[in-house]
Formats: sequence, C-alpha cells, structure tokens
Amino acid sequence: MTNNIQKSVFQGRSVLAEKDFTGAELEYLVDFGLHLKALKKAGIPHHYLEGKNLALIFEKSSTRTRSAFTTAAIDLGAHPEYLGKGDIQFGKKESTADTAKVLGRMYDGIEFRGFKQSDVEILAKESGVPVWNGLTDEWHPTQMLADFMTIKENFGKLQGITLTYMGDGRNNMANSYLVAGAIVGLNVHIVSPKSLFPAQEIQDIANEAAAKSGAKLLITDDLDEGLKGSNIVCTDVWVSMGEDNWAERIKLLHPYQVNMAALKKTGTPDDELIFMHCLPAFHNTETEYGKEIEQKYGLTEMEVTDEVFTSKYGRQFDEAENRMHSIKAMMAATLGNLFIPTV
Ligand code: CP
Ligand code: NVA
Repeated sequence: MTNNIQKSVFQGRSVLAEKDFTGAELEYLVDFGLHLKALKKAGIPHHYLEGKNLALIFEKSSTRTRSAFTTAAIDLGAHPEYLGKGDIQFGKKESTADTAKVLGRMYDGIEFRGFKQSDVEILAKESGVPVWNGLTDEWHPTQMLADFMTIKENFGKLQGITLTYMGDGRNNMANSYLVAGAIVGLNVHIVSPKSLFPAQEIQDIANEAAAKSGAKLLITDDLDEGLKGSNIVCTDVWVSMGEDNWAERIKLLHPYQVNMAALKKTGTPDDELIFMHCLPAFHNTETEYGKEIEQKYGLTEMEVTDEVFTSKYGRQFDEAENRMHSIKAMMAATLGNLFIPTV
C-alpha cells in the first residue's frame, strides 16, 4: 500500500498556449468540459477546488472570459479575485516577475488576460502555481476548449470536420484555430487577404502538428477554395483589442465578411453547417463602435452580417456558455488533485 497520490498529466500545469498540449490532452479537457456541463445541468455539485484562491488579472476588457472564470471558480468551491489593470501595481510600479512571486504566495492559481505572451509566461515561471491564459495578442487557448466543445456538441467529433476562419488571419483567434485544430485533427482553412496570412512560425507549428494528426490545413485568399466543403464558418473582429486601424482593415477585410453568399460557397447541407464567433461581434449598429463605423464608413455590419448572426446556423451563444464549462474543466484538471489515470 502506498500513500502517494498519483499525479495526473495535468496536475500543476499552466495553460499558456495550445502547442504545449497533445491532441489527446486537449480533447480530454474538452470532454471533461462536456461532463461538467452535464453535472451543472443536473444540479450535481463538483467542488474540486474547495478552499482555493484564484487571481484573475485583466489588462484588457472582457465579458465572457471574466464571467466564465468567476462563475467556474465559484461552482468549483474556489474564491476568485478580480485584479483589474487599473487596480494593481502590475507593469506600472512592479515588474511582471515580482507580481508573479507575490501572487504565487497568496493564490493557488492565476488567470491572465493581456497583451504580451511573454507576460503570461513569466507569471507561470515565477509564481509557482498554475497560470491560465485568458487571451494574449498571440493565443486564446480557453476559447479553443469552448469552441471544440461546441463542435463536438454539433458533430460528435473533431476529426474530419472542416472549419473555415475568415478575416484577420494574424490575430490570436486565427493562430489558435490553426494550431489547436492541427493538434487535435480538425481541418482548418484560414481565408484572408495575403497580407494577413498567419505568420510563418505559426504556420510551421501548425504544419508539424498536422503531419502527426492528419488534419488538413489550407491558407488561401480565395473564398471559393477556402469555403468549399466546410462544416463550420467562423470569424472574429477585424480590429482586435490593442489595435486601432479601422480604415485599413475595413478596406482589406470587407470581401471576407461572413454573409449568406459565403455560407452558400461551402456547398454543405444545412444540417451539417454551423456559424461560430467567439464574440463580441459587429453584426449591427447597436454599439458605440458600430455607430461610429456607420457614420465614418457607411457600414452597418462588419465581419458577419446580422442575417447570418441571427440565423439558424449561429452557435455563438453556445460557445459563450461553453467558456464556463471548459474553463472549469481546465482549472479542475490542473489544480484539483483529480484522479485522471491516462490520457
Ligand atoms: N470571447 C471572449 O474572449 O470574450 P470576452 O472578450 O468578452 O472575454
Ligand atoms: N481577436 C479578438 C478576440 C476577442 C475575444 C481580440 O483580441 O480582441
């Protein structure tokens, strides 16, 4: 008899970028998220993080990620503490490394949403506790877990399904889809103007992963080629947080708007086709930015038309809900001393 508790492959790990995980590991977290969703719907408690304290650092704005981490933490029995950019010394009076050392002595886990990937890496290295990337300029890994959950809910699998992402091919969402899809065996098409194709180093990581998983990747500026045979058409904002180049992006990306004509180009039967968006989305003029864009550029919708957004294809609010269940799975697996025999 031994009193040693066998550590799972997830125990104590940070989640900084998808490339640090195998396909089986990512899919385990997705399936665990589906399980926790079922527990939540059945009203079955799952207090795997009882007594833990979690720091939620936000340098950028957030509705979904902040709410998902907060509610997931509470459902797991943990205490979440929101540390907004304006409220803490981070970056202004204290280095990332010093902040990490301090927070690691008080909190059991840290979420970080911000600009630099190097910041989330320093937090992980110096804090000594699991750190979860809630979005940086480079990656959005927790969004991938929620999106893959949504794909499995609709298609029952990831492998052999084709996702076409239209728009800014160099942003965090495009990077994450390309690499995470390649790792798990989801076919990913990036359709964008050539000047916004994913960086070569991102393509290299994805190609290496795809060679192992069998995922088919395509990067093209041709709408017909990129959309043909897709099961999922998705997009993201044309201007990400931290950027302000609206005029240039509108000009470049207007031809890459997700509209009904784009969905038609897939040639996929209606019951095998969905639309996804991580949100927030510019699909009408009911926002400050939306109004401003209408006044300046005469556009009432940007990356997705209101017609597609409100159509039967839309799964964006399922994705939003799934952020909570999948973040819960990720936090429980990395911090919860769970028995996970093999992955
Ligand atoms: N999708 C997403 O990350 O949304 P928030 O910016 O609202 O967190
Ligand atoms: N690319 C977007 C994603 C928002 C969830 C941004 O970084 O603003």
